[in-house]
Amino acid sequence: MNFQFNHQTRIISGAGELDNVGSLAKTLSATSALIVCDPFFKDSSVMNRIQKSLNTLEIKSQEYADVQPNPRDYDCENGVKVAQAHKVNLIIALGGGSAMDEGKAIGALMTNGGKCSDWDAKPLNKPMLPMICIPTTAGTGSEVTFCAVIDDTQRHFKMAFQDEVNLIPTIALLDPELTVTLPAKATAGPGMDVMTHAIEAYTCKVHNPISDALALQAIRLVYENLPKAFKNPKDINARENMLVASSIAGMAFINANVGSVHALSETIGALHDFPHGLVNALLLVPTIEYNLDSNWKRFSDIAQALGVTPLDSVEETAHAGVSVLKKLISSFDLPNLQELGGLHTNEFSDISKKAMQNDLTLDNSKTMTASAYKEIIEKAYSL
Ligand SMILES: NC(=O)c1ccc[n+]([C@@H]2O[C@H](COP(=O)([O-])OP(=O)(O)OC[C@H]3O[C@@H](n4cnc5c(N)ncnc54)[C@H](O)[C@@H]3O)[C@@H](O)[C@H]2O)c1
Ligand SMILES: [Zn+2]
Repeated sequence: MNFQFNHQTRIISGAGELDNVGSLAKTLSATSALIVCDPFFKDSSVMNRIQKSLNTLEIKSQEYADVQPNPRDYDCENGVKVAQAHKVNLIIALGGGSAMDEGKAIGALMTNGGKCSDWDAKPLNKPMLPMICIPTTAGTGSEVTFCAVIDDTQRHFKMAFQDEVNLIPTIALLDPELTVTLPAKATAGPGMDVMTHAIEAYTCKVHNPISDALALQAIRLVYENLPKAFKNPKDINARENMLVASSIAGMAFINANVGSVHALSETIGALHDFPHGLVNALLLVPTIEYNLDSNWKRFSDIAQALGVTPLDSVEETAHAGVSVLKKLISSFDLPNLQELGGLHTNEFSDISKKAMQNDLTLDNSKTMTASAYKEIIEKAYSL
């Protein structure tokens, strides 16, 4: 079996690590940083701590908080103008996947030029600016992945910067104290995104032995810690384990792939501004039910990572795993796709056809069809 496994991001994890951002920036020879931040952290005490840590070491900084969930191409392109005006040589991203992806896009455009749409699914010519990612949701794993998903607002789809050499965050700073402010729903959605990354990485057609090991550990960590973080947002140990799980799942899927859950959620997400993790949480079980018979053994391994004791056959064990997942998801009391508002049944056929054209569909565990996609959306619509 021939495969590549790429991971270069230095990971620093632990409560209070945020205050070391200045000295870390110094190791990257930074003199001026653009802090791309989620609006939740604009002018916050967290932002003050970052600025203080940078100031102490005479590193200038400029806040840029024009980040929307499902980040927009024009916000990235405007961010480049701000970065150029401040002659920045470091990007710091503070926030969830949206802030981190926007930060990556700005860092890539700073060195490569052009607009976001010029780089859709194309390798970059030069490395992006050095980057420190500080995730504040435990969800996307973007702090260790070499891709950035950006809304192409002209063409209404999510374009992707992807380059395993030139789009690598330099440092991922995982400080669980930054995630305790996440409300319960914003804990569950991104948390189930981690689970989805791990399950899709483990079952997609292009997994490898290293991504397999990472994916199973991420599943275990999410299963054990997400309910705790959901019930008690200040459980710092659960928060820490979720942040680590998110990075582990990120390393797994970026070196394997994701599959039909993501192909469908990206298609829906480009048309309706729904939270990425939440949509994945709703699509996950219906998609697994379709995929199950493509690889009973792998779905039975997943069941065991979810705490199921092996039953008489891999089929029974795999089914028991699906029941555990259903119970887990229903414990979060999430709205179904219909309740998110704005998505109508007459869009389902078109969405299903568009999801078939998404490249992720090709690596899904089982061959997809537009009618299978339509059935999955129908199920998630009335869960
Ligand atoms: N690059 C990758 O590898 C990758 C992987 C998966 C998903 N994504 C992308 O990431 C995006 C989703 O990211 P996300 O799920 O992390 O959500 P997000 O970054 O969009 O944030 C969701 C919401 O949570 C709020 N928030 C963030 N941190 C908070 C905190 N600590 N306390 C309170 N509120 C907080 C934000 O203000 C926002 O309203 C999507 O665009 C998706 O396509 C990227
Ligand atoms: Zn995802």
